[in-house]
Amino acid sequence: MAESSAAVRVLLLNGPNLNLLGSRDPQQYGTVTLEGIERRVRALGAELGAEVECAQSNHEGALVEHVHRARELDGVVFNPGAFAHYSIALRDAIDAVETPCVEVHISNVYAREPFRHTSVTAPVAQGYIAGCGPAGYELGLRAVLARVEERRSAAG
Ligand code: DQA
Repeated sequence: MAESSAAVRVLLLNGPNLNLLGSRDPQQYGTVTLEGIERRVRALGAELGAEVECAQSNHEGALVEHVHRARELDGVVFNPGAFAHYSIALRDAIDAVETPCVEVHISNVYAREPFRHTSVTAPVAQGYIAGCGPAGYELGLRAVLARVEERRSAAG
């Protein structure tokens, strides 16, 4: 993790099909685009003193590499999309890096099909937010910043 005087850097990472937000199933995911979400989270980061980098990929391996890259950062807000339900590779990547990761799902996955009720990534995440709509990403940023603060205080 960065020194306590350094700016906090957070990765906002989105998985498959989340590039289609805005037009994809608005009843589940709302009408805000991914670009709109990224803008909001960056703006909140600026207010709270954090620099937010954004990335999205539809490919599991690319997401694994983004998680590895987060070793140089202070926190990750991650919506793994459907990969949350079955990607052991992503679970292992999150587990392998010390950077705190908060998992976000826009929809309430527990009110949907049973296959969405399992997350293999949640047990290795520091926190989990679901069903709060696109605002879940802003909550995720606040949650990850609280973790960063705890780690910095513990490190003195
Ligand atoms: C999602 C929930 C997943 O089940 C789904 O596959 C997604 C989006 C959400 O944000 O609610 O792609 O992660």
